[in-house]
Amino acid sequence: MTDFSYRGGKLFAEDVPITEISSFIGTPFYCYSASILEDNYRRFASAFQGLNAEICYAVKANSNQAVISLFAGMGAGADVVSEGELRRSVAAGISGEKIVFSGVGKSATELAVALEYGCGQFNVESESELNLLSEVASDMGKTATIVFRVNPDVDADTHHKISTGRAGDKFGIQFERVAEAYDRARILDGIDPRGLAVHIGSQLTRLDPFRGAFEKIAGLVRELRAKGHVIERLDLGGGLGIVYRDEILPNLSDYADIVRNVFGQMGLKITFEPGRRLTGEAGILVTEVLHMKESGGRRFAIVDAAMNDLIRPTLYDAWHEIEPVVEPENGGPVSPLDIVGPVCETGDVFAVQRQMPETRVGDLFVLRSAGAYGAVMSSTYNSRQLVPEVMVKGDLYTVIRPRSDFDTLIGMDIVPDWIATE
Ligand code: LLP
Repeated sequence: MTDFSYRGGKLFAEDVPITEISSFIGTPFYCYSASILEDNYRRFASAFQGLNAEICYAVKANSNQAVISLFAGMGAGADVVSEGELRRSVAAGISGEKIVFSGVGKSATELAVALEYGCGQFNVESESELNLLSEVASDMGKTATIVFRVNPDVDADTHHKISTGRAGDKFGIQFERVAEAYDRARILDGIDPRGLAVHIGSQLTRLDPFRGAFEKIAGLVRELRAKGHVIERLDLGGGLGIVYRDEILPNLSDYADIVRNVFGQMGLKITFEPGRRLTGEAGILVTEVLHMKESGGRRFAIVDAAMNDLIRPTLYDAWHEIEPVVEPENGGPVSPLDIVGPVCETGDVFAVQRQMPETRVGDLFVLRSAGAYGAVMSSTYNSRQLVPEVMVKGDLYTVIRPRSDFDTLIGMDIVPDWIATE
């Protein structure tokens, strides 16, 4: 299978040497492998064969339209959480009815735009949102197909900042209140309730939390059906983890078996919203060493990428594997190195005391598993440019987002004429 791998001592993205792209576009840049994206999608889809399942790619993981279009071409819909993601998905070729609108804080405008686009499913997260959607939809003479996102009070056993299914988290409707919300939805104008949704967190590396949540949801489906409600859809969210370091991942087929065992006989259409699993390992961030220095007994490599380009290490203490683009000698000497960015924050650190081969100014590094929640979470902090994104397919590569330019960045500010400039 194609990969990011060394050939003849140099790292390649599929059949393209990383150095060829860096000479063309400079550093830092994100690089995605189309073949890995396709492969990930194929594996995911085939695990659920036999189930009445659809995949709505969680656009938040990587919202470049090239990535969305690639999945759209393979049959995916989209899971979106904002008007921007909705518009991007439509622009990338996904029709409204294949779009699920998730998110804990949808505004009236966002709901109206989604209705205008014919959004296939609203995942409602509160009674307040239900009332607002009813108002907006009835004013427009439309009916919104909804499911309720349930908070099952299950601990996903992942980083606490990406855990979403505990009772005290802001997401979903409290388990015990769902039946009441369903009763109400049934009589509200402009609302057509069809089922339930659940998403308990991200980067899960164990299946038990999924099983726990799914069993609770299955019980709720039975309870609601017994009350005469129509439950024909289930949205099981995303959350499957990937390898960043040495995680042992459960098999997709075991995950699918849980879904089959718990819901297989219930006659439900099941939606999955994978994000990270489809894109994470398909992307890298390439960066160049700007300076080497020693301080306080530590060695630092200061690279040209920073926390504004990839915030995961700063925000979640996340580990990303870091490899030199020139293959290190097997069994060659390594020593601890702090790999840091140029941003003026102590937390702008990619790796602490990482065992790295001898490193010099001008060397290129790649940060692995950066295809999900990388470019999408970047900012222009320190007035830095947004880094470009490149997609590789075989021996072809295309810049799918250029480096942002300074004129646009600086030109967005407006200085009031009442501020004296002299
Ligand atoms: N569906 C819903 C409702 C979600 O909130 C999420 C992710 C997904 C699906 C996709 O989950 P995935 O398959 O990617 O795990 N920025 C964090 C991750 C935040 C995830 C937010 N929700 C990170 O870099 O780890």
